[in-house]
Amino acid sequence: MENTDMKQIQWFPGHMAKTRRLIAANLKLVDAVVEIVDSRAPLSSRNPEMDSMTKGKPRLVLLNKSDLADDKATQMWINYFRSSGAEAVAVDCKSGKGLKNVMPAVKGKVLRELMEKRERSGMAGAAVRLMIVGIPNVGKSSLINRLAGGKRAKVEDRPGVTRTKQWVKLDNSAELLDMPGVLWPKFEDQNAAIRLAFTGAISDDILDIETLAMKLLKYLAEEYPKSLQERYKIEFTDEDTGLDLLEKVGRKRGMMISGGEINTERAAITVLDEFRSGKLGRITLETPPQKEK
Ligand code: G4P
Repeated sequence: MENTDMKQIQWFPGHMAKTRRLIAANLKLVDAVVEIVDSRAPLSSRNPEMDSMTKGKPRLVLLNKSDLADDKATQMWINYFRSSGAEAVAVDCKSGKGLKNVMPAVKGKVLRELMEKRERSGMAGAAVRLMIVGIPNVGKSSLINRLAGGKRAKVEDRPGVTRTKQWVKLDNSAELLDMPGVLWPKFEDQNAAIRLAFTGAISDDILDIETLAMKLLKYLAEEYPKSLQERYKIEFTDEDTGLDLLEKVGRKRGMMISGGEINTERAAITVLDEFRSGKLGRITLETPPQKEK
C-alpha cells in the first residue's frame, strides 16, 4: 500500500504507559491472558507490546468478528498463532458463534498444566482468572457480555485490586478481569493503521475518506475481485486505479453531482459502510507473515 497521501495518525503514549503499568500490576492476579483481535486484521489489531507486556503468561488469542472475515484466512491465522505459542480460537461475539469453544480451550489447552495440578491437589473446582485485553472496538465488551450473559455479576473487591478494574464472574469456574484503559494498536505502522481504518476501528476524521476507500477498492480488486464485481456489478482490470474504481462504483450507483461529475465522497462512504457491515462478503485484510525457514 502507498501511504504518501495519508495524514500521519497521532497516538498518545501517555495513556499507553498508564495502561501498561496497570497490566503489569495485575498480571499476578490472573492465570492467563485472553487477547481479542479482529479476524480481518489480526496483527494490525494487536498492541505491539502485548507479547512483552504479558511476559510469559499463558495466552489465548480470540479472533473475533470472524463472521466478517474470510474463513480460509482465519484458519491460517489460527495456525499462525498456535505456531507462535498461543492457543487461538475464532469467535463471533455478535451471534455468539464459537464462544462455546472458549472455556474448553482455556482449560484443556492454555491452562492444562494448572488444571492438572489443581486436580491432583483437590482444587479442581477453583475458578480460573483471565485478563481480557484488546485495542478499542475489537469486541471486549461484547465478549464479556456474551460470556457472562444475564449472570453477569461483580466479584467482591480483592486486596490489591483498585476500583477502576472490574471482575466479572462467569459461573463458578471462571472470573474475567475487564481491564480499563486503552491499548493502542500499531499506529506507528501506517499500513496497520490503514487496515484498522478500513474496519472502522479508527475514526474517519483523522483520515481522508476518499483516499481510504480508494485504497480499499484497490485491495479488493487484487485480493477479492469476485466480491467487488458481484456487489457493484462493475468491470475492472489491474490497470484501474483506486480512483477509477471509486468512480465506477459511484457511476453504477447513480451518485452524481451537477455537471455529470461523480460524487466520489458519497461513493467512498458507501464502499466503507458496506465493507464494514459485511455486505461485500467475508474479507480478510492481511495474511500471516511467512516464517523464516
Ligand atoms: P470494545 O469493548 O473492545 O471497544 O468493543 P465492543 O464490544 O464495544 O464492540 C465494538 C463494535 O464491534 C460493536 O459495534 C459490536 O457490536 C461489534 N462487534 C463485536 N463483536 C463482533 C463480532 O464478532 N462480529 C461483528 N460483526 N461485530 C462485532 P457497534 O457498531 O459499536 O455497536 P452495535 O452494532 O453493537 O450497536
